[in-house]
Amino acid sequence: MTESRSEVVVVGGGLIGLSIAWRLAADGIQVTVCDPTPGSRTSSVAAGMLAPVTEVEYGEDALLALNLAGNAAWPSFAEELEALTGLPAGLHRTGTLSVAYDADDAAAIRRLAEYQRRLGLEVEELTGRETRKREPLLAAGVAAGVWVPGDHSVDNRLTVAALLRAAELSGVTLIRRSISRILIEGTKAVGVELDNGDTIRAEQLVAAAGPWTAQLNGIPDELRPPVRPLKGEILRLRVPEAYRPVLHHTVRATARGFSVYLVPRPGGELVVGATTSELGYDTRVLAGGVFTLLRDARMVLPITDELELVESIAGLRPATPDNAPVLGASGLDGLLWATGHYRNGVLLTPITAQVVAETVRTGVLPKVAEPFLASRFTRSHGDDRAGTGAADAPKVMG
Ligand code: GLY
Repeated sequence: MTESRSEVVVVGGGLIGLSIAWRLAADGIQVTVCDPTPGSRTSSVAAGMLAPVTEVEYGEDALLALNLAGNAAWPSFAEELEALTGLPAGLHRTGTLSVAYDADDAAAIRRLAEYQRRLGLEVEELTGRETRKREPLLAAGVAAGVWVPGDHSVDNRLTVAALLRAAELSGVTLIRRSISRILIEGTKAVGVELDNGDTIRAEQLVAAAGPWTAQLNGIPDELRPPVRPLKGEILRLRVPEAYRPVLHHTVRATARGFSVYLVPRPGGELVVGATTSELGYDTRVLAGGVFTLLRDARMVLPITDELELVESIAGLRPATPDNAPVLGASGLDGLLWATGHYRNGVLLTPITAQVVAETVRTGVLPKVAEPFLASRFTRSHGDDRAGTGAADAPKVMG
């Protein structure tokens, strides 16, 4: 058993953990990422929608602000990643079309469009005919649409590959092992123990283990963030060359009250997602999930029947009680959260990397992330100190 040191240890090498590590290493900070299979779980299963407007929920104003900041951060993040690695970051700027299958669905997307307009978001309502003009292969009867020009997508598997390379080029140490526990001394997190018994001591830890974050051993129960796995099944279809492109834009459809999204990739892949089920850490793909996705996809895009089903896979979204991430102070000195990104992990990757890296460097959580402290789940009404709780965190100098 060996003991080593690193200025920062990031627990979890998904999109969030890798991008934080890259940002820190680029600033000259010595970073180690621990993950047995970096980038291979939720980060690679996701469809990669950048949909702050299309997926806005009533009453989630603080999250909307973060999601919009995340969307705005993507182009420069992708440019930097590509410039460093020479690999594609996967950003695909297509805009998104919300589609209503029947009259009831049309009423639902119009109500949402009204809300989106009140929030000052850019949306354009379309008739069924106008909707089909933008996407001619949609079902002949689609009732209405809403055009969202600022919502795009990312081929998240390309992003994972580019981030792994960026981390390597920036000097991040990647340890392909699980953490058996977080090492705590008094009220301070001081390192991690790996599954082979080796330990790494660190000035600062960042827990970015998605839905597995709340399970990390060593953290006092009362400080565990309320992050749970929310299963999603997703399909990848291949479009024969003769039919390409079957879609020009991301399509988010409401079909007889059910939601389905179809995300086209430049190489001819069509991603269809996603189911939502509370089944703990179960990642089996169930027949019912595949059935539902194909039923809804072919309702709005009949040519789905002609596409090759190349992959069905399930992932676990890191869900929280208010659907928003958990960022910053954990209640233990030396440990920051970067988890709970729920449906928005790909969207929030660049902004999370920015704010968490800044918090590690300065000890102060940037303002945009203040609503997402873990303390919001335990704070009694009126105890609303603006402090990040990270003020005492050791600063790591780059
Ligand atoms: N953001 C898409 C999903 O969670 O299914």
